[in-house]
Amino acid sequence: MSTVTPVSTSTSRKKVTTLTFRQKKERGEPITMLTAYDYPTAMAMDRAGIDSILVGDSLAMVVLGYENTLPVTMEEMLHHARAVARGAKSALLVGDMPFMSYQVSAEEALRNAGRFLQQGGMDAVKLEGGRERADAVRAIVGAGIPVMGHIGLTPQSVHQLGGFRAQGKTASAAKRLLEDAKILEDAGAFSIVLESVPARLAEVISKQISIPTIGIGAGVGCDGQVLVTHDLLGLFDRFTPKFVKQYANFHAEMNKAFTEYVDDVETKRFPAVEHTVEMTDEEWHAFQEEIK
Ligand code: KIV
Repeated sequence: MSTVTPVSTSTSRKKVTTLTFRQKKERGEPITMLTAYDYPTAMAMDRAGIDSILVGDSLAMVVLGYENTLPVTMEEMLHHARAVARGAKSALLVGDMPFMSYQVSAEEALRNAGRFLQQGGMDAVKLEGGRERADAVRAIVGAGIPVMGHIGLTPQSVHQLGGFRAQGKTASAAKRLLEDAKILEDAGAFSIVLESVPARLAEVISKQISIPTIGIGAGVGCDGQVLVTHDLLGLFDRFTPKFVKQYANFHAEMNKAFTEYVDDVETKRFPAVEHTVEMTDEEWHAFQEEIK
């Protein structure tokens, strides 16, 4: 591996909990959240001081290459959750419940939520939906598992919504989202993701509930922000939603590195002497005697 310049990192940080979330909202301090699906990314985020890491079911699209989030399974989510948990020790870790792991019954929702904590090393779970998920949220919270809600654009309902489109843009849809947020709060959710909803609606919802809202494409009036890391890093080349701020272009960087590697190997510039293992002349001559 090549030598790299060490980055400044905070080594020990207090564990972020759901209580920290509440306190940050009370103090008006924005909550930071990003998605991660593997050990090195989780470790880098944790060292950067992120409040929370979501092992999102966006895994299906940005890592596994599916068209939408529907195909990803509990087993796949747990596999990636464990890797993230090994990399991040301070951030609040949230496991995203995949399609059909919580919709059939509250009992099944509870069992699968439990697996995220017991087998995935997560601290909390997230699930999509408003009033129709209140029973599942109550059952999971009742077992002592913190639940993050998710309303607005809920990607697991992509077929019902007619595509990945913004939500809450009419007066009646906005009122319904506000009601859903209050229902999730009453059911015991500790926080709610608001995805792709008008900024002024997200601000009203954030002011009218006591639990923190985490926005993605929902403006600055939310109590915190989350992005899909592959969008932020420019690693996902299929499309970039309008609400994403791209901080790097890793796809282009990877492409450049791989092209250079191919060229180096083909022209024998790699491996060079410094990448090569040597043995002493004495051992080499002894070896040549052995194989005579
Ligand atoms: O799966 C995911 O990454 C998410 C975020 C978009 C909030 O649910």
